[in-house]
Amino acid sequence: MTDLNRRRFLEDSMFAAAAAVAAGSVTQALGAEEAAPQSTSPIEKLGVAIIGAGGRGGDHINNFASRQDVEVLYVCDADLRRAEGRAKEVTKKQGREPKVVQDMRQVFDDKSVDLISTATPNHWHALTAIWAMQAGKDVYVEKPVSHNVSEGRRMVEAARKYNKICQTGTQSRSNAGMKAMIDYLHAGKIGEVTLARGLCYKPRGSIGPREDYSSRMPAHCNYDLWCGPAPLDPLSRKNLHYDWHWVWSTGNGDLGNQGIHQMDLCRWGLGVDNLGRGVVSYGGRLGYEDAGETANTQVSIHDYGDKTLVFEVRGLRTDKLKGADVGNIFQGSKGYLVMTSYSSGAAFDPEGNMIEKFQGGGDHYGNFLNAVRSRKVDELNADILEGHLSSALCHLANISYRLGEKVSVEEVKARLGDSSENQETFGRFVAHLNDNKVNLEGTPLNFGLQLAINPETESFVNNSQADAMLTREYRAPYVVPAAGQV
Ligand SMILES: NC(=O)c1ccc[n+]([C@@H]2O[C@H](COP(=O)([O-])OP(=O)(O)OC[C@H]3O[C@@H](n4cnc5c(N)ncnc54)[C@H](O)[C@@H]3O)[C@@H](O)[C@H]2O)c1
Repeated sequence: MTDLNRRRFLEDSMFAAAAAVAAGSVTQALGAEEAAPQSTSPIEKLGVAIIGAGGRGGDHINNFASRQDVEVLYVCDADLRRAEGRAKEVTKKQGREPKVVQDMRQVFDDKSVDLISTATPNHWHALTAIWAMQAGKDVYVEKPVSHNVSEGRRMVEAARKYNKICQTGTQSRSNAGMKAMIDYLHAGKIGEVTLARGLCYKPRGSIGPREDYSSRMPAHCNYDLWCGPAPLDPLSRKNLHYDWHWVWSTGNGDLGNQGIHQMDLCRWGLGVDNLGRGVVSYGGRLGYEDAGETANTQVSIHDYGDKTLVFEVRGLRTDKLKGADVGNIFQGSKGYLVMTSYSSGAAFDPEGNMIEKFQGGGDHYGNFLNAVRSRKVDELNADILEGHLSSALCHLANISYRLGEKVSVEEVKARLGDSSENQETFGRFVAHLNDNKVNLEGTPLNFGLQLAINPETESFVNNSQADAMLTREYRAPYVVPAAGQV
């Protein structure tokens, strides 16, 4: 295949799969996964605390406060006004007012709380979940489950040690359409799959100039609690909320934001249950200068020996793929399979004829509640171990990226060697930047360190600088326990 043909292949297949699904009449007819049976007995109601009441916390509330078999007892947010706003929504839905608190530790002390559902920023996920499990609660934790590799493994340790149910918020894992596609891949229906691509082409604009915005911090937000394990740095971006995704001390870029969903599907589809043998990542924060630090344009290549996982993040516009801008492509020896969303996709033969299409949703929160009641970890669709492994792939790629050096476009091309896949991906990367009129003169790109990984120890091979980035310096008392100390 020529580079141009490959480029067209990727775009055409994303379109074809999206169009096939939009046209309806799935050939693999799938209903939603069985919804969790809801008990109506008040005695059996599970007490829930929602921690983090932003955009996603609202979704948690929508779900839990609408169910018959749980009661939302608390809404907790470091920004009190946000918690109060969401608490009103809870009251409206369930007819009973939840308590509003700013400090999650008050929730953990309450024996009537059975489980916590957390949608804080990423830098708080691990500590929230570990504290909750130590206090005897089951946990639904948003993705990425961790802010660094070590945190994820500590969460797995805590879940096993305290015998707790811990579900990761990668809801695709409960969707019947996704499960059917994974089964299809694992049954060898498109032959041997050696390449999985994850695509996250979501436009992300500038977050405004870097300045000291501390004086604008609202009085109703406890910034010390908000920062928690992260340094208590002056606020250097306009918006405290959400834009933390683009700052390394709190977020993980779009790789760990939208991208983790598709990263998880790549890993699930390839059937690999470790961190691989190596990683390299390149890209940049391109097209504008702002207070953000993470890459907005990034390619990460994970080496699994006989399999490869390639992930592309694009934060600038990709007009050609409008409407089909996140997804996965699995390349098999007898065809390929395209996932277009959280629940749908299509399989094609090598000539591009569609052979199967898939669609079907599910109830991820319900799956969590079922496992909470049965106490069977293996009933979870997204146990914390899966969340850890997939989140860690994002972190490993970001470590490579952050340890890289600024180089020219020609130098990146040279360093990628003669792999036709790597060159094709890079060709599309450059074309995308040209389409967005990014100036590629000089040394605009960051080419990450090629890092070898020991999957047994979940650490790097002979690179202490990279190893140091597997964890962080914690700010007491917000300290995630070290290995063996959860
Ligand atoms: N599964 C999904 O599809 C999905 C979708 C969106 C977001 N998410 C995840 O949900 C999380 C939250 O995202 P968001 O968009 O709602 O972000 P957000 O910034 O809008 O909300 C986060 C909230 O957490 C609060 N918070 C911070 N520290 C806290 C603390 N110590 N205790 C209690 N609350 C605290 C913040 O004040 C804020 O209100 C992220 O990790 C994100 O990746 C998942």
